[in-house]
Amino acid sequence: MITVAIDGPSGVGKSSTSRALAQHFGYAYLDTGAMYRACAWWCMDHGEALDMTDTDSQTEHRLTELVAQFFTDDHFDISLDPSHPGVFCDGKDLSEVIRSDEVAQHVSAVSSIIPIRNLLIAAQRAYIAGEENPQGFSNGAGIVVEGRDITSVVAPDAEVRVLLTAREDVRQQRRNKQNSEKTVTSSDTLSATSAISGDDVAARDAKDSQVTSFLEAGDGVTTVDNSDMSFEQTLQVLIDMVDNAI
Ligand code: C5P
Repeated sequence: MITVAIDGPSGVGKSSTSRALAQHFGYAYLDTGAMYRACAWWCMDHGEALDMTDTDSQTEHRLTELVAQFFTDDHFDISLDPSHPGVFCDGKDLSEVIRSDEVAQHVSAVSSIIPIRNLLIAAQRAYIAGEENPQGFSNGAGIVVEGRDITSVVAPDAEVRVLLTAREDVRQQRRNKQNSEKTVTSSDTLSATSAISGDDVAARDAKDSQVTSFLEAGDGVTTVDNSDMSFEQTLQVLIDMVDNAI
């Protein structure tokens, strides 16, 4: 079984490329950012403001309990099928609401709490090992896992390890384009319809990089800078890397 680990900052096209890569090889696909976003949504849905810059230990403890409840009480589920990805709460698809600016602006507060990271890292490793089989999709042949700490912490022994990156102006442009194309139609309290993204990728990366180091490639990790590449070109580079590893 092949594990392909892809890290990188926001707005680099990680999700679409990773998903297409998984589809190309018939592998499972795990979007770890969607897991952190779902946890932030769950906390906000339980009345947590998440607008603190530095969390105190009481808040961290409360948020960790909330997230633990999300997982251990079986509210959370995720699809590993690259043709139908999604995260779910009690069967409800959260895919759109977790892409809202509100969640993007607050997710770093949740992902910076180490006990929460440890819960998610354990769950991610279980999915990769095939011990958990969310939504019944098998990762028998291989799995593409994308995030910030996959090459370094979650799956440092992955057969293929990539840091996907691009210049900051390119990434913000891509995020704005993505945002102008999306409309949130669900009746949830969180929504996003603005043409210019309120998701400031530079600010989010600055916060995230205090906790995980995804701005520079670690030992044995290949950097792919796709600032001047099309989606198809980026995908082809990754396909070639996986072909070389199998
Ligand atoms: O990749 P995406 O933009 O969906 O990630 C959302 C957030 O989840 C990141 O800004 C970061 O705070 C968190 N994250 C993380 N570790 C990962 C994946 C995502 O901390 N492996």
